[in-house]
Amino acid sequence: MAYSDKVIDHYENPRNVGGFDKGDADVGTGMVGAPACGDVMKLQIKVNPATGLIEDARFKTYGCGSAIASSSLVTEWVKGKTLDQALEIKNTNIAEELALPPVKIHCSILAEDAIKAAVSDYKAKHGDVAAQAGSTQAA
Ligand code: FES
Repeated sequence: MAYSDKVIDHYENPRNVGGFDKGDADVGTGMVGAPACGDVMKLQIKVNPATGLIEDARFKTYGCGSAIASSSLVTEWVKGKTLDQALEIKNTNIAEELALPPVKIHCSILAEDAIKAAVSDYKAKHGDVAAQAGSTQAA
């Protein structure tokens, strides 16, 4: 199966690979897995407490090229966004941007789930009880 140029670009030059200290109060961590293939994605956001904006993001993905490209792409997309704006990122946006074929849609769902889990984790750390329930589900 052929990957699109954008997938190959992100796969060969992944943006924002790495991680932040999980214990940092400004950091939200999302860790999700795809039951279909066993791939795992860790995505972290760093929020500026003064502005409430996501100022940085990192990922580590053990998975296929599309999963790596999806996570690389969303780390770019979330920067400069509020938490609520980050939650608006849909897997369909990712799949469209990367021109993912139908069998690779679940890879983009993984990236959407990872962002949601990272935002929930951040909110839970800051006393959002509803988010806490959400992050327990995600974990
Ligand atoms: Fe499972 Fe891509 S094949 S995340």
